[in-house]
Amino acid sequence: MARQPLVSKGFGMRLAGALSGDEMEACAAGANVFGGNRLLVVSNRGPFEYRTGAAGDLQAVPGQGGVATALRAAAQFQPTTWLSSPFTDQDRVLASRPSFPASGQPHRFVPTDETEYHLFYEGFSNQVLWFLQHGLGPSPDACPAAASEAWRNGYVPVNRAFARAVLAELNASQARSVMFHDYHFYLAPRLVKEVRPDVHLQHFIHIPWPKPAAWSRVDGVTLTSICRGLLGNDSVVFQTTEDAENFVATCAEVVADARIAPDGATVDLGPRSVRVWADPISVDPEELARLSRSPEFARYQRLLDPRAGRKVIVRVDRLDPTKNVIAGLEAYRLLLRGRPDLRARVELLAFLVPTRTSIPAYSEYRDRTMALANDINGEFGAGDWQPITIAYENNRVKALAGLSLADVILVNPLADGMNLVAKEGPLVNRRDAVLVLSRRAGAYSELRGGAIGIDPTDVSATTDAIEQALAMSADERAWRARKLRQAISSHDLRAWFRDLAAGNGVSGVAPVTLPAAAATLAG
Ligand code: F6P
Repeated sequence: MARQPLVSKGFGMRLAGALSGDEMEACAAGANVFGGNRLLVVSNRGPFEYRTGAAGDLQAVPGQGGVATALRAAAQFQPTTWLSSPFTDQDRVLASRPSFPASGQPHRFVPTDETEYHLFYEGFSNQVLWFLQHGLGPSPDACPAAASEAWRNGYVPVNRAFARAVLAELNASQARSVMFHDYHFYLAPRLVKEVRPDVHLQHFIHIPWPKPAAWSRVDGVTLTSICRGLLGNDSVVFQTTEDAENFVATCAEVVADARIAPDGATVDLGPRSVRVWADPISVDPEELARLSRSPEFARYQRLLDPRAGRKVIVRVDRLDPTKNVIAGLEAYRLLLRGRPDLRARVELLAFLVPTRTSIPAYSEYRDRTMALANDINGEFGAGDWQPITIAYENNRVKALAGLSLADVILVNPLADGMNLVAKEGPLVNRRDAVLVLSRRAGAYSELRGGAIGIDPTDVSATTDAIEQALAMSADERAWRARKLRQAISSHDLRAWFRDLAAGNGVSGVAPVTLPAAAATLAG
């Protein structure tokens, strides 16, 4: 069974991002938010993937995606041991070792059977849970029989394998707190809690949790197992209060013996109380500032700089159907059709990261996206003007350089737990870019004061929003950009992690001042 492709096109550029000795030291010497306790972090995609360099050396390459980026930063604040799934061939070699220190902190891969992992990752996690929790229709390849097979022979055994790995790690180390991440591990917390009630378990869910009715696509027994699994934690944390409320409402419907506190903030099950709350994830302004000063960033800026006078619309997304890239391109086409005067005076740069390409719904979405971009370029392109340029690769520094040059940043997902591009863009941008932001991204509640909000399903309203952004006065752009930067900086990644730590019930979590060196880990 094929796993997620191990090396994405353009990923080789990230080799330059392998950790330097200083960075590893900074990581190891990070400040300790949890008051001396080692934290065990469990996520499917780890903060680093490993490759063999040309000289036969082991290289740590930053893992892609929001969870991996956040966890790398978290390791600056806290002695951490990571448990994650192997993604590369070298990861799989390392998985047979008890531990390896290449990232400056112990990192362990949890080996699982290849067929089980396929059913777990491509099957139940990404075609059932991902589609359902983002409000997409059922994935074409996940009929009820396939979903039930993926649950039984993939999701359940891989969760068991991770629970066993957590228990082994707890026995072998000083870790007394476990932080699970995301929708891959809904069952593991209960399995761990049954054996180790003394250990504090927290789960951060990065994606939306929809209302109970949306869960009717999974059978009742499965949904009850999911909720009971999560209620094995002491604390379940969501991106938004709406997600937290939806989770509590789901528990009330499907967990017969759950008792909900009148304020909805805790769910009691037997003698245990589970706190349910929201803590929106964020970005690390220092890391972004450091990357923005790098020679690599400056080189990409020179490469991408538009012709003088041309305005630039920029988007950065994993090429995932939830990101709604096609509707964004349609909106741009409507703009060019309705406003011939804008042709050759505007361009769209799309930085699209390959993702989950072994799932047909993803590869088909990618093909339709590329075909539509070609159509638009064919319909309007003239002379040296190409209306749309797509960079289909995983190159974070290049994408950030693109965001720095934007006049308009378009973020129009159909649903999104948070969307960190909406927070990174305004911080690295140097032109007071206008953020056109889906009201269905978690980031909208924090950024609504500065952004132009859109309904992502309304293509012509998206066109109008882009048009409004392009025409906006310099004064209005400046105050909106200021508001965005303030909102983002007032709850950055350190605040997110500190709040998680405080919610973890671990003593001594006063606001911490981090040493400057701790912020030097590569993103
Ligand atoms: O949003 C949830 C998330 O886990 C993010 O970390 C990341 O953007 C994406 O999904 C990564 O997905 P994958 O590990 O499947 O590539």
